[in-house]
Amino acid sequence: MIGGKSVPRSYSICSSPTQGSFIEITPKRVESGYVSQFLNDGANVGLTVKARGPYGQFCFDESKHRRIVLIAGGSGITPMMAMLRYIDDLCIPVHSTLIYCARSEQDVFFKSEFVALQTRMPRFHYVPVLSQPGADWPGWKGRLRCEILELEIEKPLESTFFLCGPSAFMELGRALLKDMAVEPARILQESFGGAVAGGKHSTPSTGLLKAKFARSAVAYNISPDETLLESSERNGVLIPSGCRQGSCGTCATKLLSGNVQMEQTEALNDELRSQGYILPCVSRPLSDITLDA
Ligand code: FES
Repeated sequence: MIGGKSVPRSYSICSSPTQGSFIEITPKRVESGYVSQFLNDGANVGLTVKARGPYGQFCFDESKHRRIVLIAGGSGITPMMAMLRYIDDLCIPVHSTLIYCARSEQDVFFKSEFVALQTRMPRFHYVPVLSQPGADWPGWKGRLRCEILELEIEKPLESTFFLCGPSAFMELGRALLKDMAVEPARILQESFGGAVAGGKHSTPSTGLLKAKFARSAVAYNISPDETLLESSERNGVLIPSGCRQGSCGTCATKLLSGNVQMEQTEALNDELRSQGYILPCVSRPLSDITLDA
């Protein structure tokens, strides 16, 4: 709550899951960002924050991932930091490469921690890439490109890739990895700051439909043009959300009856899909529907 108003936001946790006593986030100050400005300028020790989660499937799993490559753009570094701290805390013998693209040295978060991690973690390889470095910068310059990936990543076809950053950055990352013949199943990604679902789509309007929310005991008429997340928020049904573009899986909710058109399904694994889960942020109703929310 800021000024008596609820202003929900989603942030990546950058502390290690081994930390039981606190959760760390790193909200970058955004000029037009109401909450990011408050957190950077106005939040003081003693502030009470109401939190839910964690949500999403952008997770390192030492039982599956033996060799990982983290590719971060700007503040997309934050979930990577949680993974690296976790690997460090538990001394997990995974090979990890971090390719961190930022504008200048001043824009690199956690700089001193990466230096310390390199001394403590013999299998950790840190590769900063700066698009606008100072004249004496000795490392990679410019945009993320094939040459960097080919020279810095050992055994790319045996690695699992984690991509996080603005959508254009992730599109570039995916395209480069495709050129290197990396299987799509080996690429996990987390989006932020992209276009918000709710714009143009291909479903024709067919008059109002009925949306019911079983657990909240709420029902209302919904236009087929509106996403289920947008309409539920307007009608006071709380569905947790993150990216709002079908990438993070935070809003996954079970569809109890009816049909929807979903623009993206990548955040749902086969198990969730077979159980009838949908992503309300990118789903529009094709019939009367009931959701388990
Ligand atoms: S909010 Fe991220 S998938 Fe819906």
